[in-house]
Amino acid sequence: MILITGGMGYIGTHLVLELMSGGEDVVILDNLCNSSRSTLQRIVRVAGKAPAFIEGDVRHRKTLDHLFKRYPIDAVIHCAGLKAVGESVREPLRYYDTNLGGTLTLCQAMAGAGVFTLVFSSSATVYDDCAIMPINERCRTGHPSSPYGQSKLMAENVMKSMAEADPRWSVALLRYFNPIGAHDSGQVGEMPALMPNNLLPYLLQVASGQRPSLSVFGSDYQTPDGTGIRDYIHVMDLAEGHIKALQALRCAQGLHIWNLGTGLGHSVLEVVKAFERVSGVAVPLAFKPRRAGDIAQCWADPVKASKELGWRAHRSLDCMLDDAWRWQMSYRRDAAEVLLPVITGTPSLTTSAGSLSI
Ligand code: NAD
Ligand code: UFG
Repeated sequence: MILITGGMGYIGTHLVLELMSGGEDVVILDNLCNSSRSTLQRIVRVAGKAPAFIEGDVRHRKTLDHLFKRYPIDAVIHCAGLKAVGESVREPLRYYDTNLGGTLTLCQAMAGAGVFTLVFSSSATVYDDCAIMPINERCRTGHPSSPYGQSKLMAENVMKSMAEADPRWSVALLRYFNPIGAHDSGQVGEMPALMPNNLLPYLLQVASGQRPSLSVFGSDYQTPDGTGIRDYIHVMDLAEGHIKALQALRCAQGLHIWNLGTGLGHSVLEVVKAFERVSGVAVPLAFKPRRAGDIAQCWADPVKASKELGWRAHRSLDCMLDDAWRWQMSYRRDAAEVLLPVITGTPSLTTSAGSLSI
């Protein structure tokens, strides 16, 4: 059985579906700080059954100990975390507490339970801001440009030391570039509980009339059209990368680092234009100053993952935007309906398979 921390979030939900479709048993731990219980109902619609779900915090050792005792977990995918670069500049302590503190507590609980297979949601933001693209896994990582990137790098370093000290660990640090898109069922996608910070969820809310305009943060970067360039990757390509990493860890110990990106960079304006073409909907723009913590450009060299995992992202930018838009439309339709909760009861620890008392 696989534990997915943060499994109710954007990436976690797609991973849960991918794992369940491959016949894996899954248990989710999530404190719902950026997700909603109604996500379970969406998972059931697509997968035909509910995964086990514990509402709880990854920083809470007691919760983790009970989880490992209760379920026959043999591997963990650790997605729980905070992810907004700009917000991390304003609220660094929250980011270190969750992203570093949560990882430390999880690793301690795993070691205590004798579970040593771990896939970690890391980020391209751990790399130094560098002029040479694409970024491979050997590029420098000493000076991330935001507390968010620092918190991910510090967590990576904890796991690196841990794997060096104890050969029982098999750890994959997956450095994601910019995941967007949605499950092709149109039933599952990004559903931020709070105001979105990332480009795509914000753009979708503008396109569907919930917000007046999309802010373009910076149009004076040293890029062809002056706006920031990122490597946008379909969330299902990303999910498939996790399955490959997990398979690799099951037969290789030690610590492994893989970039998960497409190898292609697109500017903010290119994404907006592609979205307008795919959806037929115009997106009003408001040009703003650069956002704190942002860099000009960032795209992956995905060759290591291709060689070692046999994985490559294959979905196009148009496919990502089309899937994301279909998801946004279906979500808007459903928001008008009453979503019946899959799980009833209000204790802080509930599971689809019963209750945990701690
Ligand atoms: P998300 O916010 O949609 O999902 C994260 C989930 O973790 C949420 O459901 C949230 O409620 C949960 N969570 C947060 N803190 C928690 C805690 N202390 N205990 C338990 N649950 C907690 O984000 P996402 O896009 O799915 O990102 C997943 C992971 O991938 C994060 O660690 C993020 O830093 C990393 N990442 C994301 C991106 C991206 O652009 N989406 C890129 C690189 C890395
Ligand atoms: N942007 C806008 N307007 C917005 C939001 C974003 O112009 O409303 C721009 C940003 O300035 C940047 C680009 O769109 O140039 C992408 O920004 P995102 O916020 O979507 O993504 P980031 O690259 O800042 O960070 C994301 C995740 C991190 C992850 C990183 C990996 O938030 O968790 O990708 O590359 F680590």
